[in-house]
Amino acid sequence: MIDVSGLTKLYEQPDGTMLRALDNVDLHIERGEVVSIIGSSGSGKSTLLRTLNMLERPTGGQILIDGEDITDPDYPQHRLHQRMGMVFQQFCLFQHLTVLGNVSLAPQLVLGINRQEAEARAMEMLEKVNLAEKAHTMPASLSGGQQQRTAIARCLAMKPDIILFDEPLSALDPAMVGEVQGVIRLLAKEGMTMLIVTHKMRFAHDVATRTLFLNHGRIVEDGTPEQIFNHPANAETEAFVRRIQSLVFDITSRRFDFYDMMSQIHLFCIRFDIAEKMNTISHVVEEMLLLLSKYNSPVRIEVNHSELDRATSVVILHRGETVSPLERDDVDELAVMIIRGMSKNIQTEATPEGTKLTFEM
Ligand SMILES: Nc1ncnc2c1ncn2[C@@H]1O[C@H](COP(=O)(O)OP(=O)(O)OP(=O)(O)O)[C@@H](O)[C@H]1O
Ligand SMILES: [Mg+2]
Repeated sequence: MIDVSGLTKLYEQPDGTMLRALDNVDLHIERGEVVSIIGSSGSGKSTLLRTLNMLERPTGGQILIDGEDITDPDYPQHRLHQRMGMVFQQFCLFQHLTVLGNVSLAPQLVLGINRQEAEARAMEMLEKVNLAEKAHTMPASLSGGQQQRTAIARCLAMKPDIILFDEPLSALDPAMVGEVQGVIRLLAKEGMTMLIVTHKMRFAHDVATRTLFLNHGRIVEDGTPEQIFNHPANAETEAFVRRIQSLVFDITSRRFDFYDMMSQIHLFCIRFDIAEKMNTISHVVEEMLLLLSKYNSPVRIEVNHSELDRATSVVILHRGETVSPLERDDVDELAVMIIRGMSKNIQTEATPEGTKLTFEM
């Protein structure tokens, strides 16, 4: 269905040099494929989507859709916009139009369908994303999840062959992520061809039939999600999917901003979808800091999370100390009980830097 060859996009940098945001990309996508696209920031994921639907004109290469060359300057833009829809991180709804107005506008303007017919089609799409009830509401009074579902309905109203999603979940409150994921999963089940850029690794793994890993503007690895996430062939892919996300705090004085640390831990848990672990992590950190406050040694706290296997741990390094704070004679037994109760497992290790405790969550 989509045939991309030699796709290249160069951007001029402030210092006059050229940056290869896309470097000679070849890609073939069949109808009905759901392709998740992962890669670190700046790897070219958005540029790939934006050149695919000609929001950015590629510097070189060709894009064919069912044999039609959309990179041809004479290719009609309205035809492209009918065939390929795009959903953005920031919803991009028209704020002065109702939900129904947003969803029914493009079919009238681009496809020349009359208003009544366009609104009937829009209602059908709003039903699909469970928003029929909100048809006459203004976008500003919708939640983020509802706005993003409206944006998806707006795409669907054009009856596109392909939908491109650029981080569709990233601007959502954690409570809204599920409803938008649900709609995307439904479309996948119905056989919609979709390319989804996401930094949510679980979602990239679960929703897709195929995953691309991009690095420096190139497709470094292309395979089934199972292959890419569980048996990557390429070392760069492996490093990316297995990377451990970490938060580190070095506490050297009593003036340390405890509340700022707690809010950073809170945000970290939300960002990596482990809100359910937030309480246990905060309690262990808090109780441990209380225990350690008796001693004057510096403390290093790390919260580590592997997105791939959803393993989370808190690592506490009590610098310069050789005895585990949990095993001292004068320890507060109640605090230790709480800490032990909160962790799945605790490991103690004597390191050259001090005693290191690892709490699995
Ligand atoms: N309009 C632009 N002008 C100049 N450079 C750009 C432009 N758009 C993107 N770039 C550069 O191209 C490279 C690829 O950017 P792109 O936005 O595609 O990355 P990305 O993989 O989507 O990253 P992120 O995960 O942060 O969204 C980056 O180095 C970026 O700075
Ligand atoms: Mg991007």
